[in-house]
Amino acid sequence: MPSKATTKLVQAGTKDQLRFITCGSVDDGKSTLIGRLLHDSKMIYEDQLTALARDSAKHGTTGNDIDLALVVDGLEAEREQGITIDVAYRFFTTLRRSFMVADTPGHEQYTRNMATGASNAQLAIILIDARKGVLVQTKRHSFICSLLGIRHVVLAVNKIDLVSYKKEVFDRIVGDYVAFAAGLGFTSNVAIPISARYGDNVINRSGNTQWYQGPCLLDYLESIDIQSDAAGQAFRFPVQWVNRPNLDFRGYAGTVASGSISAGDEIIVAASGRTTRVKRIVTQDGDLPRAEAGDAVTIAVEDEIDISRGDLVARPTEQPEVADQFAAHLIWMDKDPLVAGRNYILRIGTQTAAASITAVKYRIDVNTREHLAARTLGLNEIGFCNVATALPAAFDPYGVNRKTGSFIVIDRYTNRTVGAGMIAFPLRRATNIAWQPLSVGKSERAALKDQKPCIIWFTGLSGAGKSTIVNIVDQKLFAMSRHTMLLDGDNVRHGLNRDLGFTEADRVENIRRVGEVAKLMADSGLIVICSFISPYRAERDMVRSLVAKEEFIEVFVDTPIEECARRDPKRLYSKVKSGKLKNFTGIDAPYETPIRPEIHLRTMGRTPEQLAEAVVDLLRARAIIGNR
Ligand code: ADX
Repeated sequence: MPSKATTKLVQAGTKDQLRFITCGSVDDGKSTLIGRLLHDSKMIYEDQLTALARDSAKHGTTGNDIDLALVVDGLEAEREQGITIDVAYRFFTTLRRSFMVADTPGHEQYTRNMATGASNAQLAIILIDARKGVLVQTKRHSFICSLLGIRHVVLAVNKIDLVSYKKEVFDRIVGDYVAFAAGLGFTSNVAIPISARYGDNVINRSGNTQWYQGPCLLDYLESIDIQSDAAGQAFRFPVQWVNRPNLDFRGYAGTVASGSISAGDEIIVAASGRTTRVKRIVTQDGDLPRAEAGDAVTIAVEDEIDISRGDLVARPTEQPEVADQFAAHLIWMDKDPLVAGRNYILRIGTQTAAASITAVKYRIDVNTREHLAARTLGLNEIGFCNVATALPAAFDPYGVNRKTGSFIVIDRYTNRTVGAGMIAFPLRRATNIAWQPLSVGKSERAALKDQKPCIIWFTGLSGAGKSTIVNIVDQKLFAMSRHTMLLDGDNVRHGLNRDLGFTEADRVENIRRVGEVAKLMADSGLIVICSFISPYRAERDMVRSLVAKEEFIEVFVDTPIEECARRDPKRLYSKVKSGKLKNFTGIDAPYETPIRPEIHLRTMGRTPEQLAEAVVDLLRARAIIGNR
C-alpha cells in the first residue's frame, strides 16, 4: 500500500471527490503521469463506469453514486445531441479521497474537448516540460481552465530529471508562470517539480529534489480543500420534472445544484416571483429534514403555486438573475460556424429556451487572450457574445455559480450541441421592458378590413419567378378590394436593409427584419405578401413562429436552377458565370428547399397567371378571403 495507509479512510457518505483535469500533451508526459498516478500508487483504479459502480458499492460511498450520475448524465446528454466530444474520464480512489480525472487532448483543434473536461473539474494540473518551460499551449490551457471556472491549479514541472533536478530551472519556470497567470483568477497555484517517468514527487517525496519543501503531487491532491468552495453558495434547485403520482401529492423533482434548504424554509420561483414554503423534502428512502448540493430530491410545497419543469427555485433573500438578454463567453463546438441572429435552442440547467446570439462582441485568441474583431465563431473558437432568449431565463453569472451560469446551444434541425457558454452578466432585466397592452388589436383591425390577416411567404431561387407571381397575386387581391402589402427582396434592400449583403449572417438578419415587419403589418390586419429567396429553413421557420399557425403560408416557387439561369431576368447568373458575383444562391451559397410548404408551385409548363390563381384559391379555401 502507499505510504498513506495510516491516514484517515474516506468516510462513507461523504462527497469528497476531487475532479481534476490534466492539461498538456503526450510530449509533456501527460499519459505517463496519469499512468503513474493510477498504477504506481497501487490505488484502486477503474476506467469504466460499470467498474466505478462496483467500486462505490464496495466502499459504500454514496458520494460516488451522485458523481457517477453526473458523469453519465453528461455523456448521455452529448450522445442524445449526436455529438462525441472525446473526453476520457478515469476514476480512482485512495484511502483519503476519490478522484475523477478528465483526460483531453491538448492541441488547439481540441479546445472544445478541453473545455468540456474543464467544465466539470475543480482543479487543473498544468504540465510543463522542464526543458521547454512555459509555452503557448501552457497559456492556452491555463486560459481555458480559468474561463471554465477552475480556481485551483497545480503546475507540474515534469521531466525535472532531464534538467538534472536543478532548482534554478524550476524557479525560473514558476516565476514565468506566476507572472503570466496573474490575471486568471486562480485562488491556489502550487508548483511541484516532478518526474513522471521516475516517480519523483508524484506519489512520494523525492530524494533528488532536496531543495523542494512542498508536498508531492498525490499528497496535495488528497489534501486540497475543495469543500469550502461550495460552502456558502446560494440555494439553487432547477426543477427537472413535476412528480404527481396521484391527486394527493404534487412534488418537484430535481437535484440541488448548490446551497441547501430545509423543510419549512421559504422559497421563490425565480421567473414568476411566486413564493411559498417547503413542506417536505422527499427521497426514495423517506423524508429528509434538509437537502444540500448534489442531493436528488422531490420538494413538496405549502401553497398551490405554479411551478414547472425548467423553473429555478431559490430563497427569496438570494435570488438569481432573471433576464432575456445576457452577455456570455461562448465556445463554438460545431463544424458549421455560429450564425448571429439565427434561432437556436438554449439549455440552461433544466430550462430550455429559443434564443439567438444577437452580437459577437469579439473573439478571443486562446493563445494570447487578445480580443479580435469577429462576426462569427468557427469550430473551437471562443468569443464574447450577447444572447437573447425568447422568454426570460433564470441564471447566475458563471463566476458565481458554474451550474446555473452555464448553458449549451443546440441546433434546432440537427439537434447537435453546437456551443457551450458561460454567462457573464445580464444585459437587461426582463422586467424593465413591459409589453404595452393595446386596446385595438389585430382582430379588430382585420374585421374592419373584412379579411383575415396573414403572411404569404414566397421562397425560391433568384429568377424562379417569385416577383412575377407575387405581383399577379397582389393585383388579383387588390381587384377584390383586399388590403395587402407587398414586400420584395430587392426593394427592401434599397431601404430598411440597405446595410446588408449576401453573407449567411446578413441573409439571416435580412429575413429576421423582414419577418418582424411582416408581423407588424399582419397585426394591422393586412395580407402581407413577401418575396424573398430566404434560403435557410431556420429563418423561414422563425418567421412562421412569429404569427399564429393559420396565418403563415409558405409558397415554394420551384424552378430548376438551369431554367433560372436560362431565364436570367436580372443578368445575374451570367455575372456569376464570369466570376463577377460570389455567394450566389444555388451556385456557391446554399438553398434549403422547403420540406412542407403550404403550396408547392412547380413553375415549369405553367403560366404565372395559373400559378397566382393557385395561391388565391388556397386563400379562399382557408377562408382568408371570402367570396366577394
Ligand atoms: S435573401 O437571400 O436574403 O433572402 P433577397 O430575396 O433579399 O435574398 O434578395 C435576393 C435578390 O438580390 C435576388 O433576387 C438578386 O436580385 C439579388 N442578389 C444580389 N446578389 C445576390 C446573391 N449573391 N445571391 C442571391 N441574390 C442576389
